[in-house]
Amino acid sequence: MRNLIEKKKSRRAEDIRPFYVMDLLARAKQLESNGRSIIHLEVGEPDFATAQPIIDAGIKALQQLKTHYTPALGLPELREAIAGYYQQKFGVNLDARRVVVTPGASGALQLALSVLADPGDQVLLSDPGYPCNRNIAQVLGIESNNVAVGAESHYQLTAEHIQKCWNKNTRAAMVSSPSNPTGTLITQQQMQALINAVDEKGGHLIVDEIYQGLTYGVKDHTALSLSDNVFVINSFSKYFGMTGWRLGWMVIPDNYVDAVDRIAQNLFLAPATMSQHAALVAFDSKTEAILQSRVETFKQRRDYLLPALKTTGFKIPVEPQGAFYIYADCSALTDNSFEWTHDLLESEGVAVTPGIDFGDFEANTHVRFAYTRPIDELEEAIKRITKYIQ
Ligand SMILES: Cc1ncc(COP(=O)(O)O)c(C=O)c1O
Repeated sequence: MRNLIEKKKSRRAEDIRPFYVMDLLARAKQLESNGRSIIHLEVGEPDFATAQPIIDAGIKALQQLKTHYTPALGLPELREAIAGYYQQKFGVNLDARRVVVTPGASGALQLALSVLADPGDQVLLSDPGYPCNRNIAQVLGIESNNVAVGAESHYQLTAEHIQKCWNKNTRAAMVSSPSNPTGTLITQQQMQALINAVDEKGGHLIVDEIYQGLTYGVKDHTALSLSDNVFVINSFSKYFGMTGWRLGWMVIPDNYVDAVDRIAQNLFLAPATMSQHAALVAFDSKTEAILQSRVETFKQRRDYLLPALKTTGFKIPVEPQGAFYIYADCSALTDNSFEWTHDLLESEGVAVTPGIDFGDFEANTHVRFAYTRPIDELEEAIKRITKYIQ
């Protein structure tokens, strides 16, 4: 490198919090390259590859030279297909004009926050919660008010939190159901109460439904059955198994579509064309059959891991009913989950995510397990963790 001169970086660049698990992942990879066997329970993405019909549709789109930009809000036929999904799955009738196709749910979250809040405004988030929400807000100069949530509210924001924590600068509250990192859901009754509370404040509710479809023994819901005023975020990443295709969507109130279009044109130009053509078959019955069998596999993994972790010494006061995460209280084992996860990796080769990645509240006594690996690996992980604890 030639004479690298240290120049000033933006405050947002200096301030943004890292993903602590990335260091852990880097170390896990290093250990693996030295021949160690590592079990990855830290990764928040399905281990299954994208379903074949979707891959085939992507290849076909490329062969047909569909390589140009699409409109910023997405391919009209994909927006229609997404609107059709809500009709078919939830009986919700919505105008495809309200569907915005985005580069992942990540793109949708950036657009939603950009259109709803200005620098100096505030959003209410749960702690623990999905860390990027806080970080996207920070990059946009929006303050996050991270509300401590525990087992008593199933680690979710409630209408009471809205009443208590909303102030004159608050513009929006964000929730996710099923949640990352806790796998817990918000019932329709609680969602209605949240919608009413936020409406009363004249603010906005952003509902991240990215883990929709990945629920076990409970019915799937959408906040769109309850209100046309919510911002609902979703993605092809998780249930549809398309993480690397970078494609998501959001459904927004009609009167925000034009503003979101202008922001999307400037930030992204358009979502990836090949991915959008591939996603056109994501709702087909052939694809659906493959995806549903994966849901059954995730359920079996959860049903194995949940009691096994409890027997091993973790407390899991609320049964996770969705996503592919178990958020476990490890206070009986350590009061420093960050060191504990690093030590577990070094000693036994099991990688899990420390609570610090999801906020500050009781972060030192929690870890997140992702059951994105086959059951035989989960069994081996439990053996190794038991050995480590003993
Ligand atoms: C709650 C939640 N929202 C959004 C995302 C972003 O997903 P993507 O951009 O891949 O759609 C994730 C990814 O893990 C997530 O857990």
